[in-house]
Amino acid sequence: MNKIQIAPSLLSSDLARLEDDVRACERGGADVLHVDVMDGHFVPPITFGPLIVETLKRITALPLDCHLMVENPDEQLEQFAAAGASWISVHAEVCNHLHRTLARIQELGCKSGIVLNPSTPLDFAMEGAVNSDFILLMSVNPGYGGQSFIPSFLDRCKRLRSWLDANDYEHVNIQVDGGIKADNARDAVKAGASILVSGSGIMKGDIESNIKAMRAAASG
Ligand code: DX5
Ligand code: ZN
Repeated sequence: MNKIQIAPSLLSSDLARLEDDVRACERGGADVLHVDVMDGHFVPPITFGPLIVETLKRITALPLDCHLMVENPDEQLEQFAAAGASWISVHAEVCNHLHRTLARIQELGCKSGIVLNPSTPLDFAMEGAVNSDFILLMSVNPGYGGQSFIPSFLDRCKRLRSWLDANDYEHVNIQVDGGIKADNARDAVKAGASILVSGSGIMKGDIESNIKAMRAAASG
């Protein structure tokens, strides 16, 4: 069983107090900071770019997990790696040459992740596992914070975890993103997720205690 990691999503942080929110994440014991990069094409909103990653890199030692919700991830990899991303994940739905993209992320010195939308067949993750450090199964359709968790995630996650374990990919983590709160974190872990992304569930209210509550709930 891979170690449980908590990844607060900065999409729901108060950007006017970004540094304070990052410090609260550190005090709460976050393992990694999740940075949602949206380009206005793959998903309607436009959010963070390399500049914010560079800024975060200056103020924290926590690894920065860049979730690229963009149409052309291949054109963005160098910029995010140079800005200080530690993990980069790309959506299978927009990668014509998935192995090449994932291998490039690793060559750049980052952990690589494949992301699947809730309706994308798990075969993409199975095919890409060889070049992946983690697989992000979305539990909402991407684009917005604060949406409700889609329960079909649980069965998908169980099926993928069993397949990974049966095929020498025990080390590949499954990340869950969307609608994760303290009250469903345990279900996601039991289904096989080990990296829990949470935006509104952590960044709204008392960040430090939200992270601790989520870790306690996730550990069961
Ligand atoms: C949604 C993003 C998520 C988002 C999750 O497209 O990928 O990372 O911040 O927010 P919550 O946890 O509020 O669903
Ligand atoms: Zn995300």
